[in-house]
Amino acid sequence: MLLAINGGKPTRSDFIPYGKQYIDDQDIKSVNEVLQSPYLTTGPKVDEFEKKLCELTGAKYAVAISNGTTALHASCYAAGITKGDEVITTPITFAASANCVLYCGGTPVFADIDPETWNIDPEKIEEKITAKTKAIIAVDFTGQAVQINEIKEICKKHNLVFIEDAAHSIGTKYNGIPVGAHADFTTFSFHPVKTITCGEGGAVLTNNEEYYNKMLLFRSHGITRDEKLLTHTPFNGYNEQIELGYNFRMTDFQAALGTSQLRKLNQFSNRRKEIVSKYNEAFSKIPEITIQKEIKESDTTRHLYIIRLKSDKLKVGRDEIYKALNAENVGLQVHYLPVYFHPYYQELGYKKGLCPNAEALYEEIITIPLYYSLSDEDVYSVIEAVNKVIDYYRK
Ligand SMILES: Cc1ncc(COP(=O)(O)O)c(C=O)c1O
Repeated sequence: MLLAINGGKPTRSDFIPYGKQYIDDQDIKSVNEVLQSPYLTTGPKVDEFEKKLCELTGAKYAVAISNGTTALHASCYAAGITKGDEVITTPITFAASANCVLYCGGTPVFADIDPETWNIDPEKIEEKITAKTKAIIAVDFTGQAVQINEIKEICKKHNLVFIEDAAHSIGTKYNGIPVGAHADFTTFSFHPVKTITCGEGGAVLTNNEEYYNKMLLFRSHGITRDEKLLTHTPFNGYNEQIELGYNFRMTDFQAALGTSQLRKLNQFSNRRKEIVSKYNEAFSKIPEITIQKEIKESDTTRHLYIIRLKSDKLKVGRDEIYKALNAENVGLQVHYLPVYFHPYYQELGYKKGLCPNAEALYEEIITIPLYYSLSDEDVYSVIEAVNKVIDYYRK
């Protein structure tokens, strides 16, 4: 147990986690109905969830899949990423955004972030393009849309595939249009800390029928019953494996939970926005803290709220501030260790120093609580705790 500063009494007696799901009676009823139905998997609830995701985003096709990582893997597979291909992504993301390239035999190339928005910088993307570049995986970090128009232009100019990793950004709009219909592929994650959840789950949205069909095969062993694709059709129900796929299917009870959660997306999104504006107001008054800059095109449903510390104005580094805030009973995380700092990537030969803006950001960030059921009282406790710790360590 860490001792709180200033006499050991924490701001809160109970612990506030940094993120958590919100499940209501309707969610439970939806899942229960599936459990009592004939289809636990590959049934009508998956189709319904996919339809709802298309309605929400305006995308033509949706593939519900086992999680956000397999959504990215399916996208890279359908985009044809293979050995010798380079794919540009951001280092400030969960490892899955780069691992999906490795799964397909390609090479992730890291382009630095914009120091103010913390999203991948389109100018830095251009600097990394070579004859081998095949795709860009741009991550809507914390929920803020990337500079979609600029990235689309780059993709058009260099004939690249645009994969938008929207694991953080369901509910966000770019120029008034929901995330999901902009890129060649948009991937979602429905992990419990995300804005909506299926327990585990993911989806890929696309407007391209060929990509869609490839991902359907990929999700289920590469097996088809489509007569146009079969070498012969001796009996009903006959199927053939025509590609090397996986079992990355979503169950019907996960899909039912997802559909039920989607009904609350506006409600979730509005509450998250309220909390973000309370945090922004409080933290913009603290000279030792920087908040994330928003681009005007993004109407953001924030998944994560991150404060950036100004190290030169504080007596201690991020880790000490983190410990002190934790001792105030505030749940925290750090998003993210630059991907190429992970020992696995270091072993692959990536060197520190590659993306200075990302590395500098990593040293100074702390993710604080943000979730739908966080009460105003909780929000004010978090703000109070941050003020207390910063006051104590200010130079
Ligand atoms: C940016 C990003 N991409 C991909 C993923 C992978 O999603 P999942 O955990 O559903 O596999 C995550 C998960 O946190 C993520 O944050």
